[in-house]
Amino acid sequence: MKTLVIGTGGREHALVLALAADPAVTEVHAAPGNPGMAAVATLHGVDPMSGSDVADLAERVGADLVVVGPEAPLVAGVADAVRARGIAVFGPSGSAARLEGSKAFSKDVMAAAGVPTAGARTCDGPEEVAAALDAFGPPYVVKDDALAAGKGVVVTRDRDEAVAHAALCTSRDGGRVVVEEFLDGPEVSLFAICDGTTAHALQPAQDFKRIFDGGRGPNTGGMGSYTPLTWARPDLAEVVLAEVVRPTLAEMQRRGAPFVGCLYVGLALTASGPRVIEFNVRFGDPDVQPVLAVLGSPLGTLLAAAADGRLTDVPPPSFRDGAAVTVVLASAGYPESSSKGDVITGVEAAGAEPGVDVIHAGTALDGDRLVTAGGRVLAVRALGSDVADARARAYAAADRISFPGLQRRSDIAAEPLGVVEGASVTDG
Ligand code: AMP
Ligand code: GLY
Repeated sequence: MKTLVIGTGGREHALVLALAADPAVTEVHAAPGNPGMAAVATLHGVDPMSGSDVADLAERVGADLVVVGPEAPLVAGVADAVRARGIAVFGPSGSAARLEGSKAFSKDVMAAAGVPTAGARTCDGPEEVAAALDAFGPPYVVKDDALAAGKGVVVTRDRDEAVAHAALCTSRDGGRVVVEEFLDGPEVSLFAICDGTTAHALQPAQDFKRIFDGGRGPNTGGMGSYTPLTWARPDLAEVVLAEVVRPTLAEMQRRGAPFVGCLYVGLALTASGPRVIEFNVRFGDPDVQPVLAVLGSPLGTLLAAAADGRLTDVPPPSFRDGAAVTVVLASAGYPESSSKGDVITGVEAAGAEPGVDVIHAGTALDGDRLVTAGGRVLAVRALGSDVADARARAYAAADRISFPGLQRRSDIAAEPLGVVEGASVTDG
């Protein structure tokens, strides 16, 4: 099987590594890719937002399976363009990707499917916003309806801050916000591999979203992650498949937009059970990185079965004993800004440690020197016998890497911190 991965980040590098490890996969191509992927994949230039360019490339390399990593091309319909050429693609159609592309749409689907989630109201003006804020009370949760690259959500006890964020979002043409009930409890990421009608769950993981230790500071794309969640109920994945994923797949089918790809269920484990915080239509980054490290089943075979609508032909994925931890190394200024061109050292030494992969997220080559080229620069992922062992190995390897302005958290997977962090609230 020849595979083509679309994207440039850590998620795509981790996917490329896992695909390359599948004996059924004969070639791994990536576009646009990054310097880390070049070790295991053939890189190609492409505009990931152009369906016809991606489909042309897939034809040119003879891809049997295309995996579209990020949400923006999926929402733009890139998977439809590839599918229209008769090439199998793991990733939802543009209409199914609205589960992530529009918070209001996803809330509507959840309501119709009876999925447990926060109560919510969609608002397009200040009076509606004020009424909704007062109906739910503090802490206030205000979400931009549109894709906002992780910056669209404000969770705060400060009513003025909530009103100001809503005003900013609704001031744009057609701008709407979703105001919702605050969900109290640790957050968990559950990835469901879906073929339109059936789904297999991957092992749950946890992502550390804030920039600073102890869950302080602004939200980021994710500063680290780990699996398994030894503290969570052992039937969590099964419960989420039954209460969330299968009803959602049925509702999407009923609407004529069957969901094929990764349904990323962001959950809060509240006192009254798991509640959906959000749906995404792709793997989480870095949340999926440790999950792929412990995946015991061949990834290409699994994703190809989903893309072909025959997931029932493959067994549910298995997972190795032990644990994996990923620690993200970010550049100066992240998440408000990022720093480019700083020289990175120590990547080879870190990657030579047993069970460690150095995953590239925002790197570039300047001549033959590896330099920073984004907010999240690298992710150091380690396998271990348990979470504490994997964590120690990840940090020992990460200690070998340096670049000017390097930022990282020191408490990734230091349980029970991840448990208490939950949904962090800013005080305004
Ligand atoms: P989202 O983009 O919807 O994932 O939201 C980003 C972050 O905001 C989540 O990871 C949560 O930490 C927080 N959040 C979103 N919705 C809620 C909610 N209803 N209750 C508590 N926290 C929330
Ligand atoms: N780590 C969160 C995300 O991928 O959205």
